[in-house]
Amino acid sequence: MTAGPTWAAGPAPVATAPDCTAVLERYRRHLGTGRAALAAMLGGVVEVESGGAWVVAAGGHRYLDFGGYGVFILGHRHPKVVAAVRRQLDAHPLATRVFLEPVAALAAEALAEVAPPGLDQVHFVNSGAEATEAAIKLARANGRRTLVSAVAGFHGKTTGALTLTANGLYQRPFEPLLPGVQHVPYGDVEALRAVLAARPGDGCVVLEPVQGEGGVVLPPPGYLTAVAQACRELGALLVVDEIQTGLGRLGTWWGVDAEGVVPDMMLVGKGLSGGVVPVAAVLSRAEVYEPFGRDPFLHSSTFAGSPLACAAALAAVHAIRDENVVPRAAALGAELLDRVRTECERWPGMVAEVRGRGLLIGIEFAGDGVLGEVVLELVDRGVLVNHSLNAARVLRLTPPALLTQAEVEMFTVALRAALEAVALAQGFREPVAAAAS
Ligand SMILES: Cc1ncc(COP(=O)(O)O)c(C=O)c1O
Repeated sequence: MTAGPTWAAGPAPVATAPDCTAVLERYRRHLGTGRAALAAMLGGVVEVESGGAWVVAAGGHRYLDFGGYGVFILGHRHPKVVAAVRRQLDAHPLATRVFLEPVAALAAEALAEVAPPGLDQVHFVNSGAEATEAAIKLARANGRRTLVSAVAGFHGKTTGALTLTANGLYQRPFEPLLPGVQHVPYGDVEALRAVLAARPGDGCVVLEPVQGEGGVVLPPPGYLTAVAQACRELGALLVVDEIQTGLGRLGTWWGVDAEGVVPDMMLVGKGLSGGVVPVAAVLSRAEVYEPFGRDPFLHSSTFAGSPLACAAALAAVHAIRDENVVPRAAALGAELLDRVRTECERWPGMVAEVRGRGLLIGIEFAGDGVLGEVVLELVDRGVLVNHSLNAARVLRLTPPALLTQAEVEMFTVALRAALEAVALAQGFREPVAAAAS
């Protein structure tokens, strides 16, 4: 690919181009042989710069980033976020946590302004998993001991969050996890009701509005409304995990907006970083937040809500608002979904389904092993995508909302060629002619 970043990548972060072989060897020696093996399979590429939708590797190769695990709704190094973080870095990056600090206050206010009504209490943390942990503790502090999440749901991998992340592969080595957690099929309100009804007044339900790592699973229409109703009737708290779906990713500010549901707590992360500094948050109704609100030491963490992270969060929320990122994600998402469907329909035997909402799009392959091949073919053609942690056959696309038409076109060309290369290698003879324009 020849096109450059949407906005210029900055100077290389290291004085001289790194020796890629040496980097791989250091990974092997110090960061894990598994990670090194994975990197080697992807060609041992070493990334050194980024800007907009582009990541630049040592040696100058450029990659269009349609992955990023859902972080880069604003692309890499959005200029307004970088400028805000740079100012903060030069002024006051970490706080004493004794005095008041204005940027955390502004970031909390900005988040509350764009959140569903009533979610005006904000607890900043450093990662999505920490947001889940904080929500679990807040639920318990509100007397709720029965946690309920969905099969294939993903809420992070710290010990408490992992209890909610219903994947035995990640859970089993660390058992026993938290007690009192139940998993119900996603989309099945009656199963959820049955669990809550067994212990009325004791439940806390944690769900994604669309399952991301579960393989881009959209719930049946009316699901969130029915879940909220069940929670109300049976005295359960509702926590909606918007870490991947929030801040415009689904073409609405929040996934819950599709049904106008207002949860008791909402988890935010990924895009809140502005693609620059890690930060996440739990938003809560005042009544539910009371235990944390009253006692600031009940749940705290040294680096949580740092001025640097909050500068990124504040600038990110403002950029999403001021640059019409939400409607842009909706329009771009509709176009991309259409294009991805068209390309995949050429190989009906290989692709089981294409589904998505906004800029969260999944391609489910019909067989095992295809996804890895497609990922490699796309990387060869300068496009980065992700697999799904809880769905081995689902390739996930989470591009920035600020893509240009030329970038959309480049992606489409690469996808067509990658699918064709894999399909032919898999023994599929011809693309379906009707869609092959
Ligand atoms: C819905 C959801 N919740 C929680 C998490 C965990 O976030 P983190 O990786 O920042 O801990 C993720 C990460 O992919 C996620 O998609």
